[in-house]
Amino acid sequence: MLSRKWWLVLSALVVAAAATNIHRFDQDDIDGEDDEGFDEYDEFESNNVTSVGGRKGKILFPFVSIVRFANTECSTANSMNGTCLARRECNNLNGTITGTCATRRGRCCVVSRTCGTTTNVNNTYFTSPGYPAAYAGGPACSMIVNRCNANICQLRIDFLDLVLAQPDGDGNCVTDSISVTGGNTIVPLLCGDLTGQTIFVDFNGNTAITIVVTATLATTFARRWNIRLVQLGCDCPGIAPNGCLQYYTGITGTINSFNYGTAANTVLSASLVTGTRQIVNLNYGICIRMEAGYCAIQYSQVAGDAFSFTLTGDVEGADNTVLGTQLGAVNGANCLTDFVVIPNPTVVATALAAGTDRFCGLGFVPVQSGAKPFVLYVVTNANEGATAATPPDIANRGFSLTYTQIAC
Ligand SMILES: *[C@@H]1O[C@H](CO)[C@@H](O)[C@H](O)[C@H]1NC(C)=O
Ligand SMILES: *[C@@H]1O[C@H](CO)[C@@H](O)[C@H](O)[C@H]1NC(C)=O
Ligand SMILES: *[C@@H]1O[C@H](CO)[C@@H](O)[C@H](O)[C@H]1NC(C)=O
Ligand SMILES: *[C@@H]1O[C@H](CO)[C@@H](O)[C@H](O)[C@H]1NC(C)=O
Repeated sequence: MLSRKWWLVLSALVVAAAATNIHRFDQDDIDGEDDEGFDEYDEFESNNVTSVGGRKGKILFPFVSIVRFANTECSTANSMNGTCLARRECNNLNGTITGTCATRRGRCCVVSRTCGTTTNVNNTYFTSPGYPAAYAGGPACSMIVNRCNANICQLRIDFLDLVLAQPDGDGNCVTDSISVTGGNTIVPLLCGDLTGQTIFVDFNGNTAITIVVTATLATTFARRWNIRLVQLGCDCPGIAPNGCLQYYTGITGTINSFNYGTAANTVLSASLVTGTRQIVNLNYGICIRMEAGYCAIQYSQVAGDAFSFTLTGDVEGADNTVLGTQLGAVNGANCLTDFVVIPNPTVVATALAAGTDRFCGLGFVPVQSGAKPFVLYVVTNANEGATAATPPDIANRGFSLTYTQIAC
């Protein structure tokens, strides 16, 4: 901070020789020289000058505003995007400067934090200790996210790289887990391979959103995470409709269930058969923005992967004529434990009403729905294992569905 004496001297100087000083502020910031007193225009903004020559208020503002630039996103050499800030602002945030931006007037600033920290900075990256090296685990690792301003409604959480231990063979996240609490959106306890997933969590007024990763030290596993925390203003075009845990835009896309993967869970279930990748107690909606000129949406299981719709039943007991085919598909009243819901669909192949909105089993027949908004619901119960489950679930992986919007 400037001392009061310096402040007055500086103020007088600026008032007396405004035109020449404009360039000095600007130039110092470009040069990155630490010329104390002339490089700190951020402080000029945050200090209210109450009397300079008898005039009230922010007399320095006209000069300060000349060196302002938009705090836009800037890209960096590594996988993390930064925000274009003044060098001083970046230092105050304990950010890392990765280059210049705004035609060299700003610094590309990456704010990255790990366990036990708090942030109110947009685009903060929450990483595992020592990222990208594997993290051995230890005490719960938390990050508290406060809104960066009162106009923020939602936190978009990008799981850029998030690999935790698999659930136990019955789908419980007991070894590792990630929880997100404090928001208005209920986020299930998750674990396993979550890279590439994005969730949207509504802020509950001014209440902080807390993210906690628990990783059991005693279980050796190469876990790591790099999570981007994007604060979305209430009027931001990228904001998800309230309550949608996931939100997709675009005419086509692929939607994976949490921890969907192309290999079986190597952890055995309680009944000592191959475990599940499907996570227990899910109950959420995936929203898809209806694009202009599109009136319906069609879903199919990802081709070339027989496991891409395995929600209930015995994957290991099913042969290739069943797995991923119409024979493996189950729907309606036979889907009571784990299922997806697609409102009022028609079967694509026949153009006839499906007569049900629930789908489960070991295969998925392509369907189309004109019900709006476009939402796919996902439900699992508390047991993804074979013990005491009817039908027994063995080695289910969840789903990987493609969607395609249909023109009006
Ligand atoms: C500056 O003054 C304005 C209006 O008097 C006030 O709202 C604001 O909080 C003050 N800022 C600081 C940093 O003191
Ligand atoms: C946060 O950053 C994202 C991506 O750069 C941007 O879309 C969003 O508007 C920013 N939020 C605020 C409040 O500036
Ligand atoms: C960086 O920004 C670009 C453009 O907005 C985006 O496509 C990309 O996903 C971002 N990368 C990360 C790591 O946030
Ligand atoms: C920056 O780091 C210092 C020293 O570790 C800490 O006291 C301060 O709270 C940090 N500031 C922010 C904004 O995280």
